[in-house]
Amino acid sequence: MSGTSRPSFYVTTPIYYVNDVLHIGHAYTTIIADILARAEKLMGKNVFFLTGTDEHGQKIEKAAAERGLKPKELADRVVGRVLDLWKALDISYDFFIRTTMPEHERGVQQLFSRLQEKGDIYKGEYKGWYCVSDENFLPEDVPLEKEGHKVCPDCGKNCIVVSEECYFFRLSAYQQPLLDHFAKNPAFVRPASRMNEVASFVRQGLKDLSITRTTVKWGIPVPGDPKHTIYVWFDALHNYLTGIGYGSDDQKFRTFWPATVHLMGKDILRFHAVFWPAFLLAGGFELPQTVFGHGWWLKDDTKMSKSKGNVLDPYQILRWFGPDPLRYFLVREVPIGLDGNFSHEAFLHRVNSDLANDLGNLIQRTLTMIGSYFQGAIADPGPEEPKDEALRLGFGAMKEKVEGLYADYALNKALEEIWAYISVVNKYLAENEPWKMAKRPEARPRLARVLFQAAAAIRGTSHILYPVMPSSMTKVWGFLGEARRPEEVPWADSQFESYRIGQKAAEPVPLFPRVALEDFLGEASVSDSPSRPAAPQPSIPKQAPAAKEKTMDIVTYEEFQKMDLRVARILKAEPVPGATKLLKLQVDLGTEQRTMVAGIAETYKPEDLVGKHLIVIANLKPATIRGVESQAMLLAAVSPEGRAIIPFFDRDVAPGAKVK
Ligand code: MSP
Repeated sequence: MSGTSRPSFYVTTPIYYVNDVLHIGHAYTTIIADILARAEKLMGKNVFFLTGTDEHGQKIEKAAAERGLKPKELADRVVGRVLDLWKALDISYDFFIRTTMPEHERGVQQLFSRLQEKGDIYKGEYKGWYCVSDENFLPEDVPLEKEGHKVCPDCGKNCIVVSEECYFFRLSAYQQPLLDHFAKNPAFVRPASRMNEVASFVRQGLKDLSITRTTVKWGIPVPGDPKHTIYVWFDALHNYLTGIGYGSDDQKFRTFWPATVHLMGKDILRFHAVFWPAFLLAGGFELPQTVFGHGWWLKDDTKMSKSKGNVLDPYQILRWFGPDPLRYFLVREVPIGLDGNFSHEAFLHRVNSDLANDLGNLIQRTLTMIGSYFQGAIADPGPEEPKDEALRLGFGAMKEKVEGLYADYALNKALEEIWAYISVVNKYLAENEPWKMAKRPEARPRLARVLFQAAAAIRGTSHILYPVMPSSMTKVWGFLGEARRPEEVPWADSQFESYRIGQKAAEPVPLFPRVALEDFLGEASVSDSPSRPAAPQPSIPKQAPAAKEKTMDIVTYEEFQKMDLRVARILKAEPVPGATKLLKLQVDLGTEQRTMVAGIAETYKPEDLVGKHLIVIANLKPATIRGVESQAMLLAAVSPEGRAIIPFFDRDVAPGAKVK
């Protein structure tokens, strides 16, 4: 199909800062964007999905200096990890923009000059309280603290006064045009409740915005006045234009601009709903259709953020479950406009109940029956056998609703509809009891009909679920013997009746692993917070751990030296009651004995361990695991099957010897 004849759908995520590794909150925005992009592609739109990294500014300059790196070196390292994470999460972006790309830098300079020529950018002097962490001057109404400084209302950090000659953007001139635009386009800011906040902020009055810095070297120079660099937000927001070819590929730019939806967390909605449209109006561009400010993922009721130390590493879940359960959970659990509290219990409950039980069992059972009763290819029930209409009609109705809900970004409601249908299909099987029909030869046509209905429902539902869980649903189509992958079949062409009689189904493998809460929590309690003690080496059943290793933060030599690594001799080893993967060890550290709990029972028998020397981290804060205080952590490699393999010493070494 030619790209230009179809309606376009252009979706963006914020571009992420490269001063840190990404957490579940960042993954959330990107997953939503990916689901929308995949759904709209299926529905026949010409989709462009842009994501990327925000690499300039003081925050990056500072983070790089702290690590003894040049800002670009830091950016290059972090970008590698961001790309790895998007791969691990099955993110199908069309372009990954970095603000250090020459096309972007040139584009921003062009746009800056364009506004300058128009008189919307002018030179002046700015003095104000500035938050280095958020790269933002504080609003003037933020009160002074007793100590005489101001604190950033967003991140809580102390701010500094910055006074400098700078260029201003004439934001004040756009107050009325913005209000007019909001009035005419009530869906410009979503969810609707946030439109009110944004409009009332604009109504209170907009002051001109300082958009250059002389104090920041790591930025795009102002054209013709290079001692000034362009403010990182002016630079970053324009990625939405340069990322689709503004200034470098006119045809592409015209195909995709204006954006259909910019997605972001509510923390940066104002930048997107006020500054960004004002820059665009000044530049003479059409405005995006919708700016969607989603809610936050909280941990223990506080926004997940690195500065608060409560971030969750997506790999902690990815290694156990792969991408689909996390994708599903994040969009199923809360409507995207609201905040959600991340809990491992809730996650596991969804995986076990919705994915493993409702969906996984349905697929497993149906395909196994097709395998055992029809050798993988359901026979034609024949014209005599009455058609069951309920599942077919239910499917059509569900599909129509889901189409509207996907298009309206109501992903959790779409999943509710799909699950309501899945439970109808489960009920259909429970009521028809095909396993009983299989025992009666005369019921064979009916058996064929029932299994055909279930398989057709699974095929259709997997297609609809594909945007949310692309890798599992592609597998389901493979099991069903479909010749194509779900993404190759347009939405409108995938009907209930598209499942063909005689199609050869394969033996299914379980799609969603069942993981015991205590095993998962054993690891979660460690990974949740860097200040929490280390735990037993978990068994990692599904995913190779390589990706996790790549995401590790860089540590300085001084930081490494803080770790007290020692040789320990195992004195005693015994199982931990009720845990299949854990062993309790008594070790000699030379000057003292310690108890520790380690997830090594799948690899080692207790009796094989006594007398062996291994490496432990001796100065980790103790953790209580299964009621036992673990006072050290051993080092082990993780095999591809997820088993812990301990590096033992090949000659005698005294317990307590330092490992460097
Ligand atoms: N670089 C700017 C964005 C510039 S866009 C032109 C920035 N980057 S960021 O790395 O801090 O990422 C911000 C985005 O990450 C948020 O808008 C949001 O999309 C996502 N989230 C970060 N923490 C989050 C949660 N705890 N919960 C949900 N989303 C969160 O700001």
